[in-house]
Amino acid sequence: MPLPEITKTIEPYFLLKEDKLCEIVEFFKQELDAGLTNYGEDVAMVPTFVPGVPDGSEQGTFLALDLGGTNLRVCEVRLHGNNKFDIKQQKYKVSEELKQGQARVLFDYIADSVDAFLTDIGSDLQPEGNEPLLLGFTFSFPVEQTALDRGKLLTWTKGFNAKNAVGNDVVKLLQDAFDRKHIHVKCVALVNDTVGTLLSRSYQNGPALIGAIFGTGTNGAYIDRTSTIKKLGKDKVAELEKGGEHAGEYMIVNTEWGAFDNKRRCLPVSIFDNKLDRESINPRKQAFEKMVSGMYLGEITRNILLFLIDSSLLFDGHSSDILNTHYGFDAAFVSKVEGAKTDDEVKAAIIDDLKVDVANVRDSDAPLVRWAVNIVADRACTLSATAIAAIVLHTAPNRRKEEAQTIDVGVDGSVAEFLPNFEKRVRGALRQVLGEETEKKITIGLAKDGSGVGAALGALTAKKAAAAHGRKV
Ligand code: BGC
Repeated sequence: MPLPEITKTIEPYFLLKEDKLCEIVEFFKQELDAGLTNYGEDVAMVPTFVPGVPDGSEQGTFLALDLGGTNLRVCEVRLHGNNKFDIKQQKYKVSEELKQGQARVLFDYIADSVDAFLTDIGSDLQPEGNEPLLLGFTFSFPVEQTALDRGKLLTWTKGFNAKNAVGNDVVKLLQDAFDRKHIHVKCVALVNDTVGTLLSRSYQNGPALIGAIFGTGTNGAYIDRTSTIKKLGKDKVAELEKGGEHAGEYMIVNTEWGAFDNKRRCLPVSIFDNKLDRESINPRKQAFEKMVSGMYLGEITRNILLFLIDSSLLFDGHSSDILNTHYGFDAAFVSKVEGAKTDDEVKAAIIDDLKVDVANVRDSDAPLVRWAVNIVADRACTLSATAIAAIVLHTAPNRRKEEAQTIDVGVDGSVAEFLPNFEKRVRGALRQVLGEETEKKITIGLAKDGSGVGAALGALTAKKAAAAHGRKV
């Protein structure tokens, strides 16, 4: 097939028109509702038992752990109470063996890392008597949470696959590891990174509605009325609304939108997506995430480039070792090509990063690689917008007075931060789906360090809730 016909066949899967975006948002809203009504739905809509967002006056120092991005991070976060914080942190590498091995070994490693942090970096915390150091755990995987400090892992994502973890309480797995090693630390809060981002954005910038991650994986958390979370049951809702321990009229919900449309009813699944899914360690899962998040953008691009090479339309039909390697390059290549000002820069990236033999790179290749990267990036951005739009529409009847003028979205993650024109493209799609008036009400801001600050704020919530009930956390 000649090139123009090939690009014409591929583009509809990536350059999504307004009616397709609206259709996706409609399905999205349905899946949000289904997840709020029943357990076990694809979009899990996890109640977090975090009753609201901070106002920036919160104070305290806590340890924080962050597992689920590229590295394991151990932090100590000091909340100053004037929207500001300090953070001391250390990163620890999580090897492929740890990701795929026994959960107990992984959690032992995490506990050892906290121990190493306390020894190498040191803590400013001076607990009374024999009290343990309090820690908030940002664990960025789908967890069915039953309390602020309790939750069962539903499934691994993002390349993790440690055995004997799914179905278990991850706070218990961590606490057992601390106890086995006599590390005097108590995990008091379990927080998803999106929840952390929402808390951190609100702490620094005033009340936000949504916290979203567009990074290695993707997901969003938002504030809903507790009564909308029907699967909790009427009695539980009434108890929470009356002011049970972690409760109130509102609750943060962790959507787990990465699993949106696992049934493939509306997402534009191309042959390149099917190949990626089939070759992944979690086939038929995280359908939305696999089109949007940083872990996969390089791989979708690789699949398109290989197809063009095999059709003798690119690099004179020659590949390279990098191009032939599963996950051979990542989203950094996508961001680089998207940011390239000239074809020469793209050509340099092809030679330097993809290691294509310079003799095989023709003048027509740079624009073609740019096209492939561009359609992949464009779809990631417009789909990101559908998730935000669905929540904006879902919450419309129930929003707090804080959202009367502006609807604030805190975002974090490498795609949001480094993909050129991410926000511009998201906004373009939001305009198409929600109309200009609503799009203008939406503010989007980077909330860096959400995982650390969010975990600390989660730990503080636990401490305050315990104090309000006359007990120690
Ligand atoms: C996980 C979410 C997480 C997101 C972003 C997804 O793979 O399921 O829990 O929030 O990645 O890190």
